[in-house]
Amino acid sequence: MGSDVAYNFIFKVVLVGESGVGKSNLLSRFTENKFTLDSRTTIGVEFSTQTIQLGQASIRAQIWDTAGLERYRAITSAYYRGAVGALLVYDITKKPTYESVERWLSELYDHAHPRVVVILVGNKTDLESNRSVTSEEAKHYAEKKGLLFVETSALESTNVEVAFNNVVSEIY
Ligand code: GTP
Ligand code: MG
Repeated sequence: MGSDVAYNFIFKVVLVGESGVGKSNLLSRFTENKFTLDSRTTIGVEFSTQTIQLGQASIRAQIWDTAGLERYRAITSAYYRGAVGALLVYDITKKPTYESVERWLSELYDHAHPRVVVILVGNKTDLESNRSVTSEEAKHYAEKKGLLFVETSALESTNVEVAFNNVVSEIY
């Protein structure tokens, strides 16, 4: 009817991880096919929605994005409330962003849906020569923690759809 998009489900998915890892660019690449080289830190919370087709079902993913830095972040409890999926992003060239994954994970499990589906996302694979986190160690960690895992490049548009689609299909 009219221009309404019909969909069967709405899922809330949140982006988490340290500042500068590329959360906002993963989101803009996925929803608008847009990448910004000199993007600014996110202030408060931003949303985008995207419809994902899984077989017969149309799934509306409502994706929430906030800043990695505490002082710019959305209110924690409201941000995570009702989230059934999460992309936990680190930068493969910045080890400290990987080392803080554990802390993000416990915050997520404290506040999101108890059965939240998490995909660990190693972003910026276009910077392979500066890599400081191996795929093997991250993959191993993800397996140990029961997380999905993928490496992406928002810049080169590598695996961005895969990351979002995998988390949504796992929820579904
Ligand atoms: P906060 O909002 O501060 O938490 O940061 P963020 O995680 O949203 O990072 P953002 O998307 O703003 O990206 C930070 C910087 O990394 C920007 O300069 C982006 O252009 C750059 N960037 C993001 N993704 C990639 C990528 O895949 N490759 C490269 N080379 N740069 C990237
Ligand atoms: Mg951001």
